[in-house]
Amino acid sequence: MDALITPLHVADADALAVLQNRLWRLTYGGLLPAQLLAARDDDANCRVWRDRAMVHERDGRSAEGAVTLVAHDAAGVPVGWATTGPARDDDAPTAIELWSLYVAPELHGAGVARQLLAAVLPSPPAHVWVVRGNGRAVAFYRKSGFLLDGTTKFDERLGAHELRLVWHRAPN
Ligand SMILES: CC(C)(COP(=O)(O)OP(=O)(O)OC[C@H]1O[C@@H](n2cnc3c(N)ncnc32)[C@H](O)[C@@H]1OP(=O)(O)O)[C@@H](O)C(=O)NCCC(=O)NCCS
Repeated sequence: MDALITPLHVADADALAVLQNRLWRLTYGGLLPAQLLAARDDDANCRVWRDRAMVHERDGRSAEGAVTLVAHDAAGVPVGWATTGPARDDDAPTAIELWSLYVAPELHGAGVARQLLAAVLPSPPAHVWVVRGNGRAVAFYRKSGFLLDGTTKFDERLGAHELRLVWHRAPN
């Protein structure tokens, strides 16, 4: 599918908030603590996304300096998003981190993730953290040029281990 990709707008916020909660429950059931998933509330998440989108629409990035691109289907419905921003760890291997990449389950395997990744991150270097056990995401990043670098961490906020993948600059 050819998605229409735009910067994040306030008009997309509610749909993305609901999509995010749906994707979290689908992707992370059995990987993250059940109470963390059960606590995700659509109304609260809509408020988070509206605030984020308002700043993004005004400044072209979030308050933390992250840029979000949104994929839309032919009817204009948001079906995924990708966010890059400054690395969030002191010992990060690259200055740019892929903060998130999420696509509606109906469009997994349809090329939307590839389009979003190419748009938000046209060239290396960059890195991304993936929750341990999320085999589909690891496979997607590996076929996109990222390599598991063997670094893991326990994320207190998520209550889960994460694996790091790095997309290195191609040698000259
Ligand atoms: C991760 C994500 C963006 C990838 O997009 P996608 O369209 O599903 O990716 P693709 O189908 O192109 O690639 C996934 C690959 O993993 C393979 N795969 C599927 N399930 C798998 C599993 N459990 N273990 C290993 N590989 C798996 C697929 O066969 C495919 O490989 P192929 O193209 O060689 O057949 C998407 O699945 C998604 O939004 N997932 C939920 C949110 C998420 O996990 N985001 C990443 C957070 S870091």
